[in-house]
Amino acid sequence: MNITDFKIIKLDTVDSTNNYLKTIVKKGECSPTIVISDCQTAGKGTRNRTFISKKGGLYLSILLPPCDTRFITPMTAVAVSDSVEQMSGRTTEIKWVNDIYLNGKKLSGILCEAVFSENVEKPYVIVGIGVNLFLPKDNFSTEIKDIAISLYDTENDDIKEKFFNTLITNFLQYYDTLGNKTFLEKYRNKNFVLGKTVTVVFENKKTDAVAVSIDDECRLVVRFDDGSQKALNSGDVLLKK
Ligand code: BTN
Repeated sequence: MNITDFKIIKLDTVDSTNNYLKTIVKKGECSPTIVISDCQTAGKGTRNRTFISKKGGLYLSILLPPCDTRFITPMTAVAVSDSVEQMSGRTTEIKWVNDIYLNGKKLSGILCEAVFSENVEKPYVIVGIGVNLFLPKDNFSTEIKDIAISLYDTENDDIKEKFFNTLITNFLQYYDTLGNKTFLEKYRNKNFVLGKTVTVVFENKKTDAVAVSIDDECRLVVRFDDGSQKALNSGDVLLKK
């Protein structure tokens, strides 16, 4: 696909760009669309968390035709990471499964949601991407100021436009070759959890384990103290301090 295949909607403010696309899919408007907003009043993160979205960040969602959703999040993480490196020369790392880090702080998060519509077997996919591109004028909120980082200090519309175009170009390149998993090697290499002791949350229990690898399905393989291993699909992984 090409960027010209998408309808692009630019907003000043919205509750959530993901919700905006969900609403239009429910109305039957399912053509490829990208919505980008200067800020969000109810930005959503994974696991029902809030994604604070002040002006200064890049908040966008991409509506894709029904497809295999398994690899969209990791693929998008690599596309964001590549874009940051191409634009700024700075190296980013990925925290399995959906966070991009710069200098040990969170720069970007991804929230993919599947939306079913009548007469289609596979769901439409909404890929929500939030990047702390610029530092908000009044700084990050207290809750996140020690754990978040922006790529640039001062807002600049040209940089924002260029970053948007770079990101969509990278995203579509990986998307077009999704079956070949062209993103996978970078995804593995950029992940900073491998080799670390992590706290794995599954079945409402917290257990320590060592992250040993990322398998071909992009699951995180962890080894427990008793030597057993488990490939995690969606268990949250907390890094130890
Ligand atoms: C996370 O860090 O847990 C995921 C954050 C995803 C944020 C983006 S911003 C654009 C899109 N709209 C939302 O409400 N969330 C995603």
